[in-house]
Amino acid sequence: MSVFVILGLLVCIEAQGSSALTLVIVKKGGDVLLEVINADGLKDFSFVEWNFKRTAILVRFSPGRDPVVSPGYTGRLEFPVKNYSVNLKNLQHTDSGVYTARVFGFKGEQTLAKYMVIVRDPVSPVDLTVDSVSNSSDSCKVTVTCRTQDSHISSTFRCDTQTCSQEGGEQSKVTTSGASLQVYLDLNGSIICNHSNQVSWAKDIKMTEKFCPQHADSESLSPGISVCLVKTVVFSVGLIIMVSAVITVHLMEKLKKKK
Ligand SMILES: *[C@@H]1O[C@H](CO)[C@@H](O)[C@H](O)[C@H]1NC(C)=O
Ligand SMILES: *[C@@H]1O[C@H](CO)[C@@H](O)[C@H](O)[C@H]1NC(C)=O
Ligand SMILES: *[C@@H]1O[C@H](CO)[C@@H](O)[C@H](O)[C@H]1NC(C)=O
Ligand SMILES: *[C@@H]1O[C@H](CO)[C@@H](O)[C@H](O)[C@H]1NC(C)=O
Repeated sequence: MSVFVILGLLVCIEAQGSSALTLVIVKKGGDVLLEVINADGLKDFSFVEWNFKRTAILVRFSPGRDPVVSPGYTGRLEFPVKNYSVNLKNLQHTDSGVYTARVFGFKGEQTLAKYMVIVRDPVSPVDLTVDSVSNSSDSCKVTVTCRTQDSHISSTFRCDTQTCSQEGGEQSKVTTSGASLQVYLDLNGSIICNHSNQVSWAKDIKMTEKFCPQHADSESLSPGISVCLVKTVVFSVGLIIMVSAVITVHLMEKLKKKK
């Protein structure tokens, strides 16, 4: 459904004979660079103008003059080296909408660039808590909950003597504010909760070793035993050889004396 709406929009834009629409998603308080790419070919025009929602004027460039910034945008616009491109700073939700750069000449107007800007809040922090640990001799089960301002997700992890794995509950969900909330294990066996959207992410971590300590130790136990065993065997064999040698020498000396 939405695909058709977007296609319809694109067709309309193309039909107007203007340039394509570029979608930009910006963090609230962030900046956006609105660029005019093909400005070099421009000649014989009276001015170039950036508009917001078709009516509001951000800035007007006239040949051979400094850019004229509208009162509502004073202090929020910067002009990079590129001709007619602008950097709009400190975006707020009210700045979401379509921005258009147009050139006004003696034969009418032409669109140079068109941006759809969407301003989004950064995600809220997350809090990952351990709800329960069930610990037995051969495995350990941890249930965690990750909470944000408007959502939460619970998941269960099981660690055996070697590894941990995600066993049950949810792995990810989309929050009511359209962000994604994910709980997973990283390569080091830590449980990660990641709250993310197109403009930011926040995480919280819990180490599984903290709740399932015996599983880290059991690995080093078996090589410890075998090293000890090898040492004992080597030592015993050495002792037997030495004792035999001593006895042999002793016996040979006795035989010599008898002769
Ligand atoms: C800007 O425009 C002037 C004159 O129109 C041109 O000489 C110059 O090369 C342009 N600069 C850039 C960076 O596009
Ligand atoms: C889990 O059990 C092991 C022994 O089975 C014990 O050493 C360890 O302290 C226990 N850990 C917790 C968090 O109860
Ligand atoms: C694993 O731990 C090491 C050091 O403790 C760290 O440098 C690395 O980034 C961690 N890897 C992941 C995937 O978290
Ligand atoms: C969290 O998710 C975002 C978006 O997918 C990603 O860019 C970021 O690296 C993730 N952070 C961690 C710690 O995995």
